[in-house]
Amino acid sequence: MPSPAVPPEAEAGPGTARLQLPGREVELPIVVGTEDEHAVDVSKLRDRSGYVTLDPGFGNTGACKSAITFIDGEAGILRYRGYAIEELAERSSFVEVALLLIFGELPSRERLDRFREMLTEEQLLHEGMRYHFEGFPSNGHPMAMLSAMINACGCYHPELLSSEMDEERLLRATAALMSKVCTIAAFSYKMSQGRRMEYPDPSLNYCRNFLHMMFSRPHRRYEASPQVVRALSQFLILHADHEQNCSTSTVRLVGSSGANVFASVASGVCALWGPLHGGANMAVIEMLQQIQAGGDDPKSVVAKVKDRKFRLMGFGHRVYKNFDPRARILEQTCSELLDTLGISDPLLDIARELAEIALTDGYFLERKLYPNVDFYSGIILRAIGIPLNMFTVMFSIGRVPGWIAHWHELYLDPDRRIGRPRQVYVGPNLRDYVPIEGRKA
Ligand code: ACO
Repeated sequence: MPSPAVPPEAEAGPGTARLQLPGREVELPIVVGTEDEHAVDVSKLRDRSGYVTLDPGFGNTGACKSAITFIDGEAGILRYRGYAIEELAERSSFVEVALLLIFGELPSRERLDRFREMLTEEQLLHEGMRYHFEGFPSNGHPMAMLSAMINACGCYHPELLSSEMDEERLLRATAALMSKVCTIAAFSYKMSQGRRMEYPDPSLNYCRNFLHMMFSRPHRRYEASPQVVRALSQFLILHADHEQNCSTSTVRLVGSSGANVFASVASGVCALWGPLHGGANMAVIEMLQQIQAGGDDPKSVVAKVKDRKFRLMGFGHRVYKNFDPRARILEQTCSELLDTLGISDPLLDIARELAEIALTDGYFLERKLYPNVDFYSGIILRAIGIPLNMFTVMFSIGRVPGWIAHWHELYLDPDRRIGRPRQVYVGPNLRDYVPIEGRKA
């Protein structure tokens, strides 16, 4: 299966836009995507006019053409390679979705089986990596360990450090990264618990093996129920890609310098960590716990949010101005999982009450703020037994295939250039050097 490049339909422009600048007019090509999204191509603007565009937070800037994921934020639509997220969450597996994202098509049975074998082969870490673990404090944050260890993994795979990847190498790098992030995550958890690291079990599939490494003990093997495995697989599928978000853009930017896939993915982990991005799944649970502990009722919490005392974590999105379709699926998964496990989590009740109030409140309606993927995901992770400080690690495990898909798509892109934004300088003009005796205290 050849790695897909951006389809030619996205190349053809239907016309031009005219930009009126003081004293001149510049004609700029219009680009239309396969879902009829229109863009003005400003790549030659500075050459032709001396002007640059200014767009803090890149809310209006398309940084690339991409054929991986389509989002219509107004309609609440998310598709991977043309497949609706709802259908993938219902019918597919995380491993299959990973191949779809990276290679563009759902895999044949033979290809899927072969990739599963590769995942098994790549489960173990080089023994040298154990010494890296020993150097971390036991209470070190698992996100810091994950990014450092992914980067370190590259040292043990010199054959996978080139950006020039044929299909076989890309498959191998994908298997190495997807498998090793699970092993690293589970090892860091065991270390934080002061427990013996549990080696991967080659007889188990991807999700079961991860749960085994997390929760089995020498005297008590963990057997995951089908519902837990299904919930975990769905969680990972729903986190697998989300086009040009903060961490994926970081991976692309780092990759644009020619950095290898391990370094690029490690940078994605760092970008994901923040509470406005992947770290929101932890922040939501912390917020719900605070509400529970303080006995605050959800109505007064919403009032405080409106007074701008804090943000409602797990709400709002740069792209979705409608329901995040992932949140809808996860709410359902969450209810089903808690029901089958017989768990009653008061945090889910608080979350639902908050959502109900917010979704009928003018402040949220005007700003089109809806629950995002992180609003319910933490309650699922809690039910599975994942500790709070590993929630964003779980998001990272899910996002690895998306990061690899974008890293590779960038490499194939004929328009690829090193990512290097411009700025509008607003600092001091040229001034004379002041000797130290003449400076103010
Ligand atoms: N709670 C309260 N108000 C909010 C929230 C929120 N969660 N999110 C946005 N707003 C308000 C802002 O205060 C602003 O109001 P104003 O126009 O009156 O000043 C308006 O909505 C627009 O907000 P921005 O910050 O400009 O929106 P932006 O697109 O830059 O930010 C973001 C998106 C970061 C996701 C934001 O909605 C947020 O902070 N949400 C909470 C954190 C969160 O859940 N992050 C996870 C996102 S999903 C993911 O990354 C996996």
